[in-house]
Amino acid sequence: MTSDIAVVRQGQTRVGVIGLGYTGLPLALGLANAGHHVTGYDIDETKLAALRSGHSYLADVRDEDLAVTHGSLTVTSDSGALEQVDSVIVCVPTPAGANGVPDLRAFHSVFEVLATHLRPGTLVIVQSTVPPGTTARAAALLGERLGLTPGEDFFVANAPERINPANAEGWNLENTPKLVGGLNPESALRAERLLASVCKVVVPVPSLEVAETAKVFENTFRLVNITLTYELEALCNSIGISVHDVIDAAATKPYGFLAHRPGPGVGGECIPVDPHFLRSVAADFDVAMPLVDEACRRAAQRPLQVVDRLAELLSDAEKDVSTARVLVVGVAYKPGVSDTRNSPSIEVISELDRRGAKVSYVDPFVEELVVDGRLVERVAWDRSAIVDHDCVILMTPNRQITERPLWYAAPLVIDTWNLAAAGDGIHHL
Ligand SMILES: NC(=O)c1ccc[n+]([C@@H]2O[C@H](COP(=O)([O-])OP(=O)(O)OC[C@H]3O[C@@H](n4cnc5c(N)ncnc54)[C@H](O)[C@@H]3O)[C@@H](O)[C@H]2O)c1
Repeated sequence: MTSDIAVVRQGQTRVGVIGLGYTGLPLALGLANAGHHVTGYDIDETKLAALRSGHSYLADVRDEDLAVTHGSLTVTSDSGALEQVDSVIVCVPTPAGANGVPDLRAFHSVFEVLATHLRPGTLVIVQSTVPPGTTARAAALLGERLGLTPGEDFFVANAPERINPANAEGWNLENTPKLVGGLNPESALRAERLLASVCKVVVPVPSLEVAETAKVFENTFRLVNITLTYELEALCNSIGISVHDVIDAAATKPYGFLAHRPGPGVGGECIPVDPHFLRSVAADFDVAMPLVDEACRRAAQRPLQVVDRLAELLSDAEKDVSTARVLVVGVAYKPGVSDTRNSPSIEVISELDRRGAKVSYVDPFVEELVVDGRLVERVAWDRSAIVDHDCVILMTPNRQITERPLWYAAPLVIDTWNLAAAGDGIHHL
């Protein structure tokens, strides 16, 4: 053990990062820059080819960032390469499938690979978000398959990802506190030491389950509070005041209040997904979580509310959604990224399609968009494209759009983020 720790301090361990996506690639680069020899393993040959030719496919990672790893990051789709590493960090996707059921197929297939290739003594860190209890179960199964005792013959920890892609506040791998829970103290210690080489603050927590649950609770907290603002918005609209004025006012309280905003819905791989992981475990234990259930229901409905509001406003203007030309501005789930997974814009476009509208989109980061098998027309953010539509829905407040507020040219605008004052054809939800 002591010699391992010394090796880590010298920055010379061999680390396998499994899954080189939004979370795995920045981690692999961070580890390589910290002096580790990193093997990035992924099943997506297109991504591997891009990395080998020095090109990044993520907005947050520049080609120059890849170049500075000086050969300490190699990438492969050969799972046999994982036999050469001292630690593996699992960063594969864990989405929610239909009705929010956790889809852990990629996660389990990684453990299948580890059952073939893991060497005794290896540290396995799960960074993918998983329903509480998943890491311990996977470790037990892996131990059975290998004929090894987890915690003794190999080591297991959970260290959830908290990355906030394209955030403007400067939070990154290095300065975001990293939770680490171990299967046992030895596992925790090894994981803490490795992760301390890339994260300034490592926060040990008592168990795997605490780390797993804290991660999904963080995003459940956000979902519940975001959907609470939908209710507040409905009340404010009835009173005749702005929900944003109310939230701004409440946010001046220096303690005990955290501002959340009512946008067009929640997207990405975390906020809409993680509460379902909590619910799935609650169901296993027969524990009711009605508040979380309701928040999930409200969030799922929110994009439809955007479309309903548009139909109502078009009708007021003696137009019909079934013949309207609609420009959806922003299709990624947040500004500054190209990630459209679970984006409310996709739901809005899908629903508009169902109702017969002709939809185009603008997004500085998303070059091509297919919704329900249909390629959606992409247009430029310029005056001629805007006036060619009956209405504009401002969905993702990208800087490239907000710095050129051309929406004033549109006959009808739904501004889901309060970018402009209501009036003169501009409406809030
Ligand atoms: N994206 C975020 O902002 C974010 C934030 C916090 C936590 N997370 C969590 O991190 C995890 C990874 O998310 P992501 O956004 O990085 O996903 P991603 O889809 O961007 O990347 C995952 C990578 O894993 C690869 N992969 C899939 N199956 C594989 C397999 N069997 N073996 C090897 N590689 C495989 C994919 O090709 C892809 O490159 C998820 O659990 C997610 O919930 C994501």
